[in-house]
Amino acid sequence: MTEKLFDASDGMTLLDGRIMRLREVARANNLDAVVVSHLSNLFYLTHLRTSAGVLVVDVNDDSLRFLLDFRYQTAATARIRERCGPSGLEVIPVTGSYEEAVAAVLNSTSVTRVGLEADHTSVRQWQWLDRHAHVSLVPLVDLVERLRMIKDEGEVAILRRAGRLLSEIVPDIMALAARKRPEVEIAREIDQLVLEAGFERTAFETIVASGPNSALPHAHPTARKLSDGDLVILDFGGVLDGYCVDISRTVVVGIADAECKRLYSAVQEAQRAAIDKVIPGESAEQVDAAARDVLDSYGLGEAFGHSTGHGLGLDVHELPRVGRKQASAEPVMLESGMVFTIEPGVYVPGLGGVRIEDDVLVTSSGVERLTYSAGELMGT
Ligand code: GLY
Ligand code: MN
Ligand code: MN
Repeated sequence: MTEKLFDASDGMTLLDGRIMRLREVARANNLDAVVVSHLSNLFYLTHLRTSAGVLVVDVNDDSLRFLLDFRYQTAATARIRERCGPSGLEVIPVTGSYEEAVAAVLNSTSVTRVGLEADHTSVRQWQWLDRHAHVSLVPLVDLVERLRMIKDEGEVAILRRAGRLLSEIVPDIMALAARKRPEVEIAREIDQLVLEAGFERTAFETIVASGPNSALPHAHPTARKLSDGDLVILDFGGVLDGYCVDISRTVVVGIADAECKRLYSAVQEAQRAAIDKVIPGESAEQVDAAARDVLDSYGLGEAFGHSTGHGLGLDVHELPRVGRKQASAEPVMLESGMVFTIEPGVYVPGLGGVRIEDDVLVTSSGVERLTYSAGELMGT
């Protein structure tokens, strides 16, 4: 991870800018403090990678307390000494449970309305804090996630580099499907190529889904050997400097029959239509609708049962969701700096499926593709 990046606008450090924006949103929600415990959010705000921890962000003053257990205290203290964290970050040792430590910190201050991450706080933790912290708890949905949705220059630079690295290995990965071996073996070799390309790890369990298995959108690789005429979905991704990229290609083993070609053309056209809709001010729902309309026109609407895409960043699935309107989620309007996948697919039980997935960045004037290459249905 690049250290001490600066926010171009005012010379403030990158992390100070993130904390400042979090405080602004919290203040707009009449909160006195925000308790952050989701690990990707903690990393986003502190650049410290931990497997546990809680950040208590006071909204009305500069205090920024990072509650950490023994495993991370030394590392965090060293990073603060090197001035790699946000200004004012203070490590608070946790010796018992995290809930006890959070309650003790909150009770030692004058805060009254405290936001907790609704999607990352268990019912047990909420109940315990409700009983022991003398504050009023407010559920927060996507507060940090919405900040993370707009990537800054440094994040875009990493995602661009990651997209290029992943794209460059696509031809080699597509060629792996030629040798009629079991899906699991091909998946292992894909993982190897992803690591050799320079990624620190794979972004998720690689999917190699052949023949009838390709009709299962998130199939796990099996011992099934690829055979002539199979549609094969290859879906893989890598993590670079903490950021995830994600791509899918579909190939045919041997000669593609007319129906495979039809499915492929439909998905390819749907993907193009969706990418063409990516422009600031457009809604994510409209991008989804563009892909869905094309597949409907091929009579394949029912075969496309998932969303068109998802945000990418520190998590492989994050905001924005590029899908149909959901009653439980706020609609998203596209803004410059958003990064997400466009991955329409069709799945026909018994026959197979096709998915084509690429990663895009919303720019001030439209769209930039972060992944590319080898778009045609390839007989192998
Ligand atoms: N590989 C998971 C996804 O495409 O969302
Ligand atoms: Mn994806
Ligand atoms: Mn994928």
